[in-house]
Amino acid sequence: MDQIPVLELQALGREAQGKLLVADINLAVMPGEVLAITGASGAGKTSLLRLLNRLDEPTWGTVLLDGEDYRHMEVSALRRKVGMLLQQAYLFPGTVAENLRFGPLQQGKHISDDEVDKLLERVGLQGFAGTNVSRISGGEAQRVSLARTLANDPRILLLDEPTSSLDEANRLSVEDLILDVIHHNGMSCVIVTHDLAQAARMADRVLVLEAGRMLKVGSPRKVLHA
Ligand SMILES: Nc1ncnc2c1ncn2[C@@H]1O[C@H](COP(=O)(O)OP(=O)(O)OP(=O)(O)O)[C@@H](O)[C@H]1O
Ligand SMILES: [Mg+2]
Repeated sequence: MDQIPVLELQALGREAQGKLLVADINLAVMPGEVLAITGASGAGKTSLLRLLNRLDEPTWGTVLLDGEDYRHMEVSALRRKVGMLLQQAYLFPGTVAENLRFGPLQQGKHISDDEVDKLLERVGLQGFAGTNVSRISGGEAQRVSLARTLANDPRILLLDEPTSSLDEANRLSVEDLILDVIHHNGMSCVIVTHDLAQAARMADRVLVLEAGRMLKVGSPRKVLHA
């Protein structure tokens, strides 16, 4: 039986203030697939990513999530299924555990000490539950953000330049961690990166954007060495 895409972008586009940001994107992201989005600064990478969990509204087209038109879903449910990690980890003042508990608490769900420990273990931060976030490194903060997203058990992770603020060693270890987590959980991933080597290391397919449009899409080998 054919698989249903996790995300199916259908003639997706957006304009804002009279400017065309994203135009006519047709693309399916399959279960377990890692798609990298690359292109010059200003090409519309972030604009496209923000359309995928309705941080911004499409002007044209739509996205199907597991076959369902996302405009018919509750936005909070959509955002839990489509987790997002930003360039900089935005953590609230307080402990690592408090940061992990905050989101689920908004849904009236309490995360037990055991569950906190399990989430931290998944991102390689065993023993950090009680640590204040003011005392952790950039790489550790990015891992806490990832754990916070994983607490929602998402189907797909959206990553916007998640390692660009990290040094080389941390960058590679966060990359490995992200790949481990998505493979282990059978998640899909859309990662925006201007780092072509990173796209080649991480992605099954690469989409190159130019002025909001799809310039190329294909395997890293085909697209990046053409
Ligand atoms: N809300 C908005 N209204 C008008 N123009 C916008 C808006 N958001 C972004 N833009 C413009 O749209 C273009 C695409 O922006 P976007 O942030 O998506 O690019 P990007 O590919 O992510 O670039 P970078 O690599 O620098 O992060 C840019 O020219 C930007 O200035
Ligand atoms: Mg951007």
